[in-house]
Amino acid sequence: MKLYTTISALQEALREEQAQGFKIGFVPTMGALHEGHLSLVEQAGKMTDIVVVSIFVNPNQFNDSNDLANYPRTLEADMSLLGTQKCDYVFFPSVEEIYPMPDTRKFSFGALERVMEGAFRPGHFNGVAQVVSRLFEIVNPDKAFFGRKDFQQLAIIKELVRLLNLTIEIVPCDIVRESDGLAMSSRNKLLLPEYRECVPMIFQTLKEAKVLALTRSVSEVKAFVGERINSTALLKLEYFDIVDDTSLSAVQNWSDPGTKVGCIALYAGKVRLIDNVIF
Ligand code: PAF
Repeated sequence: MKLYTTISALQEALREEQAQGFKIGFVPTMGALHEGHLSLVEQAGKMTDIVVVSIFVNPNQFNDSNDLANYPRTLEADMSLLGTQKCDYVFFPSVEEIYPMPDTRKFSFGALERVMEGAFRPGHFNGVAQVVSRLFEIVNPDKAFFGRKDFQQLAIIKELVRLLNLTIEIVPCDIVRESDGLAMSSRNKLLLPEYRECVPMIFQTLKEAKVLALTRSVSEVKAFVGERINSTALLKLEYFDIVDDTSLSAVQNWSDPGTKVGCIALYAGKVRLIDNVIF
């Protein structure tokens, strides 16, 4: 496993791999790695010849400066976790390396960015698109791997690939959960013990919502989730929406065509968590 901090050194190494006909798999991350990230790396190892992982806390996608300042940075631990996987290259650039000048590009994802995360975190997906398009340009992968936990991000990345006419295959990977059901996230490390004890009820509630969906309307299921979360003193719901998995438009009836996904965002103290289930 080799660690590079500059674009030129990484590209030189990757050009040699590509010249030998090797397919490149890419896993972009912001570090603070956990089993969820490792499952992406494992999947990349199964589907491609050479695996590249980037670790870059992208300032452009944080709309809250405290969130950016508090985001865990754990390079040493990340490197030892990656050492347990088939990971060939780690790219760990500085902010200046990625953005030698301010990135002023504006992407337009239409309705996809007007709901859920897009509505509550203005500018977030534009920042994600800036960094992911930049990383795609640098790494030039054949396939890129993203977790389904960031469900809306996945839809945005697929749209980005379409808008930029890229030939990169986007491979969605399943959510990895702790044994008590909490979806793995780098932010889980920031939860104080009392909050950590309480947050398994998020997935528990989503599972109960799935059962309820067999007999109750969409609005009743949404009300159930809202009441359940907000009646828990330590949690504060931001949204729970049931959307079509491709257009992300709100589902009105269970009989609407397409796959339906329930997406939740909430605060456990100062820590913002998201999760989702397929209905
Ligand atoms: O999902 C993430 O960790 C980030 O949004 C990503 C895709 C690495 C871009 O910074």
